[in-house]
Amino acid sequence: MKEILWKNEFSVSVEELDAHHKIILELVNELRRGNTDAEQEDDLLTILYQYADLHFSLEERLMEQSGYTDLEKHKELHDEFRSTIAKLRTDVSGQRDTFSGELLEYLNGWWASHILTEDMKYSQTLNKHGFK
Ligand SMILES: [Fe+2]
Ligand SMILES: [Fe+2]
Repeated sequence: MKEILWKNEFSVSVEELDAHHKIILELVNELRRGNTDAEQEDDLLTILYQYADLHFSLEERLMEQSGYTDLEKHKELHDEFRSTIAKLRTDVSGQRDTFSGELLEYLNGWWASHILTEDMKYSQTLNKHGFK
C-alpha cells in the first residue's frame, strides 16, 4: 500500500499539532509499507498508541483553553480510537492476517475522518485564542 505524503492542506494551523500529525502519519505509513514483521508491527502499534495518547492530551487541553464547544464529542472520538487500537493489539496473537488488513483499513479511515475532518474543525477557534 502506498504511503500518504504530507500536504499543506492537512495543516490544522497550529504548529505543534501539525508536527504531531506528521509523526502519526509517518507511523501509519510505516505500517502501510508492510515491510515489517509481526514483532515490528506490534512495536509500531505500541508507539502509535502511546504517541496518539500524548497528542490527544495536548489537543484536548488547547481545545479546553479555547472554549471549543465540541470538546466532549471530540474527546469521545479520541477514546474510540484508544479502545479500537487497544482491541486490535489484543487481537494480534493468532489472527495475524486479518489483523493487518483490519488495522490498515481502520487507520486509513481515521486519518480522513478524524485528522482531516474533525481536527480541522477546531482550527479557527484555537487560532482565535492565540494557538498557532
Ligand atoms: Fe489530532
Ligand atoms: Fe483529535
